[in-house]
Amino acid sequence: MEYLKESDSIPDLRVKIGTLVLDNPVMTASGTFGYAREFEPLMNLRRLGAIIVKGISLHPRAGNPPPRIVETACGMLNAIGLQNVGVERFIKEKMEYLGNLSVPIIVNVLGDSLEEYRQITERLCHCTAVAAIEVNISCPNVKKGGVAFGTDPSMAAAVTKVVKQESTVPVIVKLSPNVTDIVAIAAAVESEGADAVSLINTLIGMAVNLKTRRPELANVIGGLSGPAIKPVALRMVYQVARAVRIPVIGIGGIETAEDALEFMLAGATAIQVGTANFINPRASEEVVEGIGDYALRENLHSIRELIGALKVG
Ligand SMILES: Cc1cc2nc3c(=O)[nH]c(=O)nc-3n(C[C@H](O)[C@H](O)[C@H](O)COP(=O)(O)O)c2cc1C
Repeated sequence: MEYLKESDSIPDLRVKIGTLVLDNPVMTASGTFGYAREFEPLMNLRRLGAIIVKGISLHPRAGNPPPRIVETACGMLNAIGLQNVGVERFIKEKMEYLGNLSVPIIVNVLGDSLEEYRQITERLCHCTAVAAIEVNISCPNVKKGGVAFGTDPSMAAAVTKVVKQESTVPVIVKLSPNVTDIVAIAAAVESEGADAVSLINTLIGMAVNLKTRRPELANVIGGLSGPAIKPVALRMVYQVARAVRIPVIGIGGIETAEDALEFMLAGATAIQVGTANFINPRASEEVVEGIGDYALRENLHSIRELIGALKVG
């Protein structure tokens, strides 16, 4: 690929998302890495390809009542309810620290309406430290009776359109897996100019406590994440990567470099580490190291040789 000139450092782990060049394909998944500072004593943040912070809305959100997290077989269910400090406090309290990290900062945004998505994008694009915006479209559209934006191709396209109109940085649209045809949603957001898609967000699930005869989560249902969802995520990444021309970012149950490399073979240009951060705070850094080791062992000039190189048939 000629967009990145060969460098002396072999192997080259750089990948490109829109106009954004990452030193390596590993990012942290939104909501599993706080605002990064919490992880500073535990790992070297500067090794990451990018940091994606907890989802931010225009106004602060309290989230759902507890219990909000429960462990499940090979994964976890969460119903945090998109709790966050709101965009103004985020900019005031978190941005300076993040801006000094010399790692691209990607801000995950959410909204109840197109207007909210528009306003939050406008506000964030005034911050020089924002390298890209990741749009969470798994949120309910209040004006459409609470149907999630990400479950309807025309609503997903409409969000992409308003964010793209406002944004001065690359726009990544994060897809919901809770749909019949994720390829149709990916195609719809690509047609409105999304620079990349990331997938998957959590799968809707629930857990029951036999002793109390109550749901484990106060919200009854929540989002399933972790290794349990990896095969579903891989399948969706594979299908979407074959259908769109923009970069695909793989998410879902990635704990090791091997997991990450499987996603790249299936067509992902980059990947995100989510739930694994709760189990091992160094997981994302270890994935970076492992990808580098693999590229060396396999004599790759560039990790990009692997993207979509899955042998089928
Ligand atoms: C506790 C928790 C909070 C999350 N918060 C967000 C969020 O604010 N915005 C978002 O787009 N995704 C959020 N996610 C979804 C993750 O970013 C990721 O897409 C999902 O967990 C699947 O990846 P994993 O299996 O590696 O965790 C959250 C996930 C968890 C577990």
